[in-house]
Amino acid sequence: MIASDMTGKVALVTGAARGLGRASALRLAELGADVAIVDVDAAELAGTGEAIGAMSRKALELPLDLSVRSNCVSAVEQTLAEFGQLDALCNVAGVMFPSATPEMSNEAWDLTMKVNLEAPFFLIRAGLPHLLKAEGAIVNVTSCAAFQGQAYFAAYCAAKSGLTNMTKALAMEYIKEPIRINAVAPGGMMTKLTEGMGPIMDKDMELIGRIGSPRGMCEIDDVAECVAFLASPAARAYHGACINIDAGVTAD
Ligand SMILES: NC(=O)c1ccc[n+]([C@@H]2O[C@H](COP(=O)([O-])OP(=O)(O)OC[C@H]3O[C@@H](n4cnc5c(N)ncnc54)[C@H](O)[C@@H]3O)[C@@H](O)[C@H]2O)c1
Repeated sequence: MIASDMTGKVALVTGAARGLGRASALRLAELGADVAIVDVDAAELAGTGEAIGAMSRKALELPLDLSVRSNCVSAVEQTLAEFGQLDALCNVAGVMFPSATPEMSNEAWDLTMKVNLEAPFFLIRAGLPHLLKAEGAIVNVTSCAAFQGQAYFAAYCAAKSGLTNMTKALAMEYIKEPIRINAVAPGGMMTKLTEGMGPIMDKDMELIGRIGSPRGMCEIDDVAECVAFLASPAARAYHGACINIDAGVTAD
């Protein structure tokens, strides 16, 4: 799995302020791409923009809340206005609110669905004409939660399963067209997302323990490498795939 040169190409990466989104945006820039970076956290996003600039690549910072549908369309429109093309769309932004089901707020359910499932759809729909023109690629970041029944993660599991199968549905819909549509399903990585386990630390630890791998966490850069590979022309044989990078979690 070796990503190919992205010089002259434009990638749009969501969730790029930190964690996997930031690492994916930096890797794509390292491969030569100019990158539109989207995140609700404007301050941290600026740091990613600076890092891309330091690699002599162009970064377009788009501080947008992707739980708002019109912002998904706007992200694509602003990318096209700045760069005139879109070769790769990487849907990395995500939220996670672990909770026992009776305690889960309606707001947590809604935001999980909006950011993790709906935003990728509306970004993809806006980006498709341009990605088809560029013979480009879509990479959706799902999760090992798409393949396991993880206790206390009902909303997150539902959203990530939905995103995984939406990836496959779109791959079939566009199987005769010059575009590649794939997913990456990481296991646990040490990011701000995984710091949010507090609300379930008084729950059944035996069940919580089943979520992880005895091998430990995955490195962010290992997963970012896979995102960049699938976004690059080197992944020409990949379409409708979901690559599990989870240190064996879904081997069980
Ligand atoms: N960390 C893990 O263990 C893990 C495991 C499997 C899958 N994932 C997935 O990887 C992706 C990246 O997560 P991460 O671990 O880097 O977490 P992270 O919290 O470090 O990064 C997520 C990014 O998404 C952004 N974001 C959240 N809501 C947004 C919104 N409404 N609009 C725009 N941006 C928004 C955040 O600001 C943040 O920069 C997510 O889709 C997550 O579900 C993470």
